[in-house]
Amino acid sequence: MTLEKLKQIPADAILGLMTVFQADQSSQKIDLTVGVYRDDQGRTPVMRAVAAAEKRLVENQSSKSYLPPLGVAGFRDGIRKMVLGPQDDSMSPRTGVIQTPGGCGALRVAAEMYRRTGTEEIVSLGGATWGNHRGLMGAAGLALETYPYYDAAAHEILADEMLEKISKLPPQSLIVLQASSHNPTGTDPDADTWDKVIELLEERNILPLFDLAYQGLGDGFDEDVAVIRAAAERLPEMFVAVSCSKNFGLYRERTGALLAMGRDSAQKSVLESQAANVARGIYSMSPAHGPLIVAGIFEDPDLHQGWQEEVQEMRERITRLRSEFAAALAAERSGLDTSWLTTQRGMFSLLGLSESQVDTLREDQHIYMVRDSRINIAGLDGGNMPIVAKAVAPLMA
Ligand SMILES: Cc1ncc(COP(=O)(O)O)c(C=O)c1O
Repeated sequence: MTLEKLKQIPADAILGLMTVFQADQSSQKIDLTVGVYRDDQGRTPVMRAVAAAEKRLVENQSSKSYLPPLGVAGFRDGIRKMVLGPQDDSMSPRTGVIQTPGGCGALRVAAEMYRRTGTEEIVSLGGATWGNHRGLMGAAGLALETYPYYDAAAHEILADEMLEKISKLPPQSLIVLQASSHNPTGTDPDADTWDKVIELLEERNILPLFDLAYQGLGDGFDEDVAVIRAAAERLPEMFVAVSCSKNFGLYRERTGALLAMGRDSAQKSVLESQAANVARGIYSMSPAHGPLIVAGIFEDPDLHQGWQEEVQEMRERITRLRSEFAAALAAERSGLDTSWLTTQRGMFSLLGLSESQVDTLREDQHIYMVRDSRINIAGLDGGNMPIVAKAVAPLMA
């Protein structure tokens, strides 16, 4: 038989834990695993602006016919402006945009476009980085390299080591860089390090693919894309993979976009034609529901303002939880340095525990986190935080 040749594949590290969590019968169980935003009640709510735009969309839609290959115009324009901000006027003539099924879709389309260049076919990923980068880039047939990024035990970025490695990467190779709120470390390069990274990319003709999954949830809408705007000024070519999963709460609607920047408008047209052709060969066309909601928000000043305020509330909640968790850990164990928790940004931090410690926490105390000890800060709340702090503080280095 043919299909019998296929072997069972172990569950994805994060999604597999989700299943184990759901099957856990304990009333004490705590989920810090999955990368979705949670509010104080532990819910992942539909954002108010999203609900309003969706209601309007459902009331007013007159057709579900196909979209143009690059997607919803108001969505594509709005996303490009959100990322490029004041530079949009000068950059839009060289920036192609295609709507994609989430940030994952954008990463995969970029990888396929890069592979079509027939150059090095090598992509460098951070050590550590979000687990699915390997899957997405590998599935496009690229060879994977790793650049040093973070020392989990010391809770420190490895800036010098990262720069050293980038300075040796082959010209015309691709590098995935997370623009802000790094997953899983919560640690981003400082402005000076980013500057040096951009300089090296320029000098060595390395093509960056900025992964932007958390704009607005780190330091602010502009702050979180500072490196992308700086790179756009200096580099002739780059990709930006945008996800609307977290900052619009549109996870299951698979909403994202790929920005492909070239030297000029002629190259933009080439890049858009390639992106559309790649998409056609994988999934043909990206779903419209999420992008139409986002376009509805961008096009209505009140909804736009309201959405920005909601993202700000989420951002402030994460920042507050970081301080509270740092204090709760320090209260459990005097002398423990938890300052890194408050300087980090976004939803994730690595606690620096071993896999066996993580397994014991799950099996004995029903506290769930990714095996590399990544926790979702937004999964903490007044009820579970003291329990987590008490369990984790004695284990921390
Ligand atoms: C760093 C990073 N990039 C990209 C994504 C892709 O998200 P999605 O495809 O759900 O929009 C995620 C989601 O968790 C992420 O954490």
